[in-house]
Amino acid sequence: MSGKKERFDRILHKIEDVLEEEHIEVARREICRLLKENIDYYNWVGFYLSDENGYLTLTEFEGEPTIHTKIRFGEGICGQAAETKRTFLTNDVSKETNYLSCSIKVKSEIVVPIMQDGRFIGELDIDSHKLNAFDELDKEFLEKICGLISERTRLKSSDQR
Ligand code: SME
Repeated sequence: MSGKKERFDRILHKIEDVLEEEHIEVARREICRLLKENIDYYNWVGFYLSDENGYLTLTEFEGEPTIHTKIRFGEGICGQAAETKRTFLTNDVSKETNYLSCSIKVKSEIVVPIMQDGRFIGELDIDSHKLNAFDELDKEFLEKICGLISERTRLKSSDQR
């Protein structure tokens, strides 16, 4: 078994605990911190939430501030993931024709949708300064995190997201 899978499992357990936190914003912020601090090639970690007008708004994040705080569905990697409701993984952003650059240092990006009852509610976005940074294990790991966030949001659906 690779050390990477074990490390991901340990972080997942911590995230389960974090999601016990009453305020989902606080939990999302802590998830950003845990991911960025524990995985060296996760250089920027953030959440975008969907509104009813076809836009994504940046909420919690760790890493350098970005100018892309509001993104229209269909625009960039984030907007494409929102439109297709599927994980978008690119291991070389220079090959992308529909891409919004936050920093020239970024080489790879993965965006994972957060779904609830078939509805897209937001996404987790990770940028890496490494080429070919992400593999299937990263994808599975991040999809599990988004699944946990979705469950947590359903359980406490009286909260705002
Ligand atoms: N690169 C993204 C924009 C958001 S930043 O990565 C934080 C995109 O193409 O949608």
